Amino acid sequence: MGFFNSWLVLLFLLIRTALAQIEEFVSIDCGSKSNYSDSNTSLAWVSDAAYIRHGSVREVQTENIISPQYKVYRFFPTNSRKYCYTLSTAERRRYLVRATFFYGDSNSASSYPMFQLYLDSTQWATITINDASRVYVEELILRAQSTSVQVCLCCASTGYPFISTLELRPLNLSMYFTSYEDNFFLKVAARINFGALSAHPLRYPDDPYDRIWESDLNKRQNYLVGMAPGTKRISTNKTVKADLREFPPVKVMQTAVVGTKGSLSYRLDLEGFPGYARAYAYFAEIEDLGQAEVRKFTMKQPNIVGYKDVILNIVENANGSYALYEPSYMNISLDFVLSFLLMKTPDSTRGPLLNAIEISKYVQIIPKTDIEDAAVLDAFCSMSSSGELDCDNGDPCIPATWEWVTCSSGMPPRIEKIVLSHKNLKGLIPAEIKQMDQLEELWLDGNFLSGPIPDMSILARLKIMHLENNRLSGELPSYFGDLPNLKELYIQNNSFDGEIPIVLLTGKFLFNYDGNPGLHLPRKHKKNLTIVLPATIGAFIVIILLLLGYLWLHQRKTQQTKSDSLCITSKSSVPYSIAQTTSLVNDEGRDVACCISLSTIEEATGGFCKQIGVGSYGPVYYGKMRDGKEVAVKVSAGISNHGTQQFVNEVTLLSKIHHKSLVSLIGYCQEECNKILVYEYMHNGSLRDLIHDPVRKKGLNWLSRLLIAEDAAKGLTYLHNGCNPSIIHRDIKTSNILLDINMRAKVSDFGLSRQTESSLTHISTIGRGTIGYVDPEYFANQQLTDKSDVYSYGVVLLELISGKKPISVDNYDPDWNIVHWARSLICKGDITSLVDPCLEGTFKLESLWRMAEIAFLSVQIHGLQAKK
Ligand SMILES: *[C@@H]1O[C@H](CO)[C@@H](O)[C@H](O)[C@H]1NC(C)=O
Ligand SMILES: *[C@@H]1O[C@H](CO)[C@@H](O)[C@H](O)[C@H]1NC(C)=O
Ligand SMILES: *[C@@H]1O[C@H](CO)[C@@H](O)[C@H](O)[C@H]1NC(C)=O
Ligand SMILES: *[C@@H]1O[C@H](CO)[C@@H](O)[C@H](O)[C@H]1NC(C)=O
Ligand SMILES: *[C@@H]1O[C@H](CO)[C@@H](O)[C@H](O)[C@H]1NC(C)=O
Ligand SMILES: *[C@@H]1O[C@H](CO)[C@@H](O)[C@H](O)[C@H]1NC(C)=O
Ligand SMILES: *[C@@H]1O[C@H](CO)[C@@H](O)[C@H](O)[C@H]1NC(C)=O
Repeated sequence: MGFFNSWLVLLFLLIRTALAQIEEFVSIDCGSKSNYSDSNTSLAWVSDAAYIRHGSVREVQTENIISPQYKVYRFFPTNSRKYCYTLSTAERRRYLVRATFFYGDSNSASSYPMFQLYLDSTQWATITINDASRVYVEELILRAQSTSVQVCLCCASTGYPFISTLELRPLNLSMYFTSYEDNFFLKVAARINFGALSAHPLRYPDDPYDRIWESDLNKRQNYLVGMAPGTKRISTNKTVKADLREFPPVKVMQTAVVGTKGSLSYRLDLEGFPGYARAYAYFAEIEDLGQAEVRKFTMKQPNIVGYKDVILNIVENANGSYALYEPSYMNISLDFVLSFLLMKTPDSTRGPLLNAIEISKYVQIIPKTDIEDAAVLDAFCSMSSSGELDCDNGDPCIPATWEWVTCSSGMPPRIEKIVLSHKNLKGLIPAEIKQMDQLEELWLDGNFLSGPIPDMSILARLKIMHLENNRLSGELPSYFGDLPNLKELYIQNNSFDGEIPIVLLTGKFLFNYDGNPGLHLPRKHKKNLTIVLPATIGAFIVIILLLLGYLWLHQRKTQQTKSDSLCITSKSSVPYSIAQTTSLVNDEGRDVACCISLSTIEEATGGFCKQIGVGSYGPVYYGKMRDGKEVAVKVSAGISNHGTQQFVNEVTLLSKIHHKSLVSLIGYCQEECNKILVYEYMHNGSLRDLIHDPVRKKGLNWLSRLLIAEDAAKGLTYLHNGCNPSIIHRDIKTSNILLDINMRAKVSDFGLSRQTESSLTHISTIGRGTIGYVDPEYFANQQLTDKSDVYSYGVVLLELISGKKPISVDNYDPDWNIVHWARSLICKGDITSLVDPCLEGTFKLESLWRMAEIAFLSVQIHGLQAKK
């Protein structure tokens, strides 16, 4: 299953949560026995007792305790295991995760600790304590990929792993969005508040997101040295407008440094570098400049191609004083030592100014152990009553493997060996074990396992299996005889019964079945007869059945061709090709569309008098059936390009597709060369007509747009996932999204959709799609996939957000279309310019960001590489 499908499903969830709920901070004081609130920050700290059962608590041996959460820490034994905290997250939300380490004990005779910190299976940092009186802070910004993240400590090379605090802070809106976030974490290397009023870092409540802004007065080795002469600290009490994309706290923006002698320079070490970085600079003019005064400067160092000669003029860039300008470099290569130098331009009357900087390193995310393998391990964990398995201990394989498994070295790691001998396991062997196709050894002996042996017939790598001394029962499966690599199979002292399959007795592998009183050897030893004969007879019967089936089908086909001009009125006469190859789930047993006579249709439409539109199929007329049901009648324009048989096939297929977000087919007619499809009538017409009508679109508020997006996504998902074979729409656009009387949307015109299965080549293969909505990848390789539909859906979303047409010379430059236009705005973070002006002020920014991100992902040029 492609990433897309799960992605589309996720979409509704996202839109639902778009009116985001306020999440609380998680602040864990590791080692603390009690919960308390810090009076300086008002943060509520909780004990870590509920998070971890390992490790011990140590009181810090120093007088100099900066704040209460540093009085104690939790430490772990120095061994080959890892110790993990699990934090709950909301999928796809961005978070800041922070771990701090305060060792304190400067008199310690033993060497200071050095160990590894991991987030899930990605190495986050090497913690090296050099200064016992310093609080070491590690921060990672990530987009949660699942409902939890795990922070693990392990691998001490000196001392022991320990931790003082662990914090989780949800971020809002587009904060810290990067195009790389699915593959990279951001590890914060520097976040500096220049001109700070004290040496204390600034955090919550000054920063509502509780980022820690270090003071530039904080002194340590090679941290902000090489300051240019004439550097002056300035501050203001006026409020600074700072609500741009990264929302730096106003307090940080109220202070700055100024190079009164024309330059500003600093040098500092960036932990974890060299590497690729995301770097932000925050500027706000907080001095009152005179009429003739200007502050203009350039960045001379680091020397970044394309930025070297760019002149900064904060007032101009921010459109005013006391307002934030936040230029950023989304991907630059930086060294361990960062020197930067800002110089005023010759025509500037004031020297350069800087309020804050923030630099993070991209850390590639290392995949966790295969989820299906991990799920089986979880199943085993739940069978252990004693809790002695280290199941709550992070990823099974990385960075340290669980004691009872062996992992492959691939990415993601797979489980090769499970050793659970004598672990008091109770219950059935989990059926999911059949997914562990890399498993080579399975040791489950000496437990209390019961029930039959589950299907493991596809575990082709299985070599050794120990099931002895359990309470397993049932018959022995014969597939063991077919496992190509099986060398040893032990099932002694169980309660198996029945006949031992003869294939297990060939001596190909070691097989020990003592202590199973119910088991007996095959009664007849005339091997050749017992095995070969049934096989021959079986094959013979199969052939006869196939022949009969073929004859029957052939006959049906002949009949079918003869009766082509007749109407199909019941389920029983589904054409053979569909019956054979198509099965639709969720059909709920509704009737297939019925055949409606031409005269009935003529009556309903008043002789085709009211045309309400033109579809790809031909003109569309309004009609009202005798029972009062309003219908839309589509009349085929082309006569020859659709064969009769094909028409019947497609109608049958179509009529079986029922979903509340798909326009349903009520019936059809095929008489006198007319091919007519009768659909339910959609009172509010097409989304295209609505959204591009300056008057009508005013009635379309943000919430209705969200609902329409959700409906369309559901309809599309059903076509992709709910139908078997799945159906590619191939022409998603706003004119194919219709609105019913309650303004709920339904996808229409999937009439000529093509099944993705290549065997169904009899169905039209004429290329489709509408300029402006077609995935550029389609032009490149002429392959339509479900991704092409997703691309088109992304264009629809952009249309919904902006109220603009996909292609328009008035709105965009001639070669540009809505996708280019929107992409550049989203990349700039200037999302509000995207929105339909008539929506101004009626929606939440958070919700808009979610929507824009989805649209942005949908219209990625190179599809989203299918994951998983
Ligand atoms: C601390 O708070 C957590 C969660 O709010 C709770 O589960 C735990 O019992 C509390 N512990 C103490 C010692 O009060
Ligand atoms: C609050 O901060 C001050 C220094 O800013 C510190 O001396 C004091 O111990 C802190 N109190 C608490 C409860 O953290
Ligand atoms: C985050 O967004 C939610 C909903 O939009 C809002 O209620 C909350 O105050 C925001 N949090 C911060 C720290 O701004
Ligand atoms: C800001 O206000 C504080 C006290 O309210 C005052 O001491 C300080 O001088 C003011 N700073 C400036 C730059 O006006
Ligand atoms: C810049 O600010 C002025 C007034 O402060 C405002 O009239 C103008 O619309 C702003 N321009 C932009 C592009 O935001
Ligand atoms: C940053 O740019 C480099 C060089 O162009 C590239 O190798 C890297 O993948 C980019 N992205 C990240 C997140 O490092
Ligand atoms: C099976 O059970 C018997 C009796 O309890 C015991 O002597 C024997 O060692 C067991 N077999 C194995 C392989 O453990």
